[in-house]
Amino acid sequence: MDRIKLIGFMCLLLFYACLDRNATTESNESKKSIIRPKWNNAEINSDLNLSTPEIIKKTGYPSETHVVTTKDGYILTLHRIPGENGSLPVLLVHGAFSTDIVWITLGKGKALAYLLADQGYDVWLGNLRGTTYSREHISLSTSEWKYWDFSFHEMGIYDVPAMITYITNMRSQPLHAYIGHSLGTSGFYIMATERPKIARKVKMMVSFGPGAFADHMRSPTRLILYLINEIEPILRLLFHDELIPQSAYNILKTLIGCNLNFYFAEVCANFLIFTPNGYDPEQLNLTHLPFIVSHLPAAVSVKTVVHYVQVIQSGKTRQYDYGPTKNLMIYKSVEPPEYNLSSITLPMAIYYSNNDLFADPIDVKRLYNLLPNVIDMYEVPRPSFNHAGFIWAKDAPKLLYERVLKIMKENYSSSIL
Ligand SMILES: *[C@@H]1O[C@H](CO)[C@@H](O)[C@H](O)[C@H]1NC(C)=O
Ligand SMILES: *[C@@H]1O[C@H](CO)[C@@H](O)[C@H](O)[C@H]1NC(C)=O
Ligand SMILES: *[C@@H]1O[C@H](CO)[C@@H](O)[C@H](O)[C@H]1NC(C)=O
Ligand SMILES: *[C@@H]1O[C@H](CO)[C@@H](O)[C@H](O)[C@H]1NC(C)=O
Ligand SMILES: *[C@@H]1O[C@H](CO)[C@@H](O)[C@H](O)[C@H]1NC(C)=O
Ligand SMILES: *[C@@H]1O[C@H](CO)[C@@H](O)[C@H](O)[C@H]1NC(C)=O
Repeated sequence: MDRIKLIGFMCLLLFYACLDRNATTESNESKKSIIRPKWNNAEINSDLNLSTPEIIKKTGYPSETHVVTTKDGYILTLHRIPGENGSLPVLLVHGAFSTDIVWITLGKGKALAYLLADQGYDVWLGNLRGTTYSREHISLSTSEWKYWDFSFHEMGIYDVPAMITYITNMRSQPLHAYIGHSLGTSGFYIMATERPKIARKVKMMVSFGPGAFADHMRSPTRLILYLINEIEPILRLLFHDELIPQSAYNILKTLIGCNLNFYFAEVCANFLIFTPNGYDPEQLNLTHLPFIVSHLPAAVSVKTVVHYVQVIQSGKTRQYDYGPTKNLMIYKSVEPPEYNLSSITLPMAIYYSNNDLFADPIDVKRLYNLLPNVIDMYEVPRPSFNHAGFIWAKDAPKLLYERVLKIMKENYSSSIL
């Protein structure tokens, strides 16, 4: 059985590797400025096995781990870099295939979580259901398909509300800002439309590479997502609807050399980062690659992928489509209900980029036109900035975070006036 799983999985990824068209077409110019890894960089290597809180501590910040249980029984982990008494709480939520490790990858003085802590914020890092730090449930196990019976809808109506409620109760004050990347933004939009009472506890929201509409999504990953959509029943049978069994992934990463052999770092980077997200090799510090591949990709449910394909194909941001008959039973309508984005009244700041293959500028502008209270709408001023750039670009502090920190400060001053 394990062998069948592995073969099935390898076929998927081989198919995916064939899509890597741009890997061989880079210009001499960009080759020069690629940051070559220091092979066997001892500092990075010693972090490979460390968890988010361990790395935070090692970087010289205090760190805490908190656990929240959602209304539907999922047990989620929040990591925290606590601020002083009276500091403003902020919550950061990662995208698909990720964990909260993405907020600290760039390291001290660069990664957003540390910059926020340096500015005196009380920094909370959320981990969505199913991912590395949030795989427990009060009664279900990750080896049951029932556990994986969720998409970003459930993240939006259960995970995000549970995190926000926990933090605001503990701090007895509103959340100053929610910062989301990709899927982490989708969860927030769904929370804000379906659980507006919770949204009132949040002062502002920052979106990186927002995930609302996706019909202009350009990533070659589209094809593999469509394939997953088609073979969902097989995946349910083989993997209990967990898209990427960690064991299969680890074997594969070893095979293409991501884990063991730094020599293949660039092949690996093309495969895992540039092909899906957009090509921008100068902005990825390859020294971080062993760290990234030792922690990611994290698990995702097949239903999340299928729901995402529905968003791409329908051009609508709406609840999961079970087909007319079951829709009628669940929603009392043949079509699934749409999320009413124009009902989100809290201040929103939106950051997007030209070469983001997931959040295409056309789709982002459509979202912008629906949201009634956008306080900042900003295209990152680098044409090749990609979907992963929001978390891993070496110049993200200058190109993006400086502006975000400024907007967060301004929104604070305006809300206390
Ligand atoms: C490949 O690179 C070219 C030039 O940089 C770009 O125009 C094109 O969109 C890229 N294609 C893919 C699939 O990334
Ligand atoms: C690119 O590199 C190749 C081989 O290294 C060289 O022959 C060619 O002239 C270079 N092209 C440019 C535009 O520098
Ligand atoms: C990480 O853990 C694995 C298995 O526990 C071990 O083989 C490896 O040497 C460790 N790597 C580092 C850098 O500590
Ligand atoms: C912060 O609050 C806690 C609990 O209320 C208290 O124990 C601690 O002394 C306070 N710290 C400062 C620096 O005021
Ligand atoms: C790349 O990452 C390493 C390890 O964090 C760091 O020492 C180095 O300064 C980084 N290089 C650039 C250009 O950011
Ligand atoms: C969506 O929300 C807006 C603002 O609250 C409201 O005016 C509109 O009627 C809502 N649309 C639907 C379809 O409920």
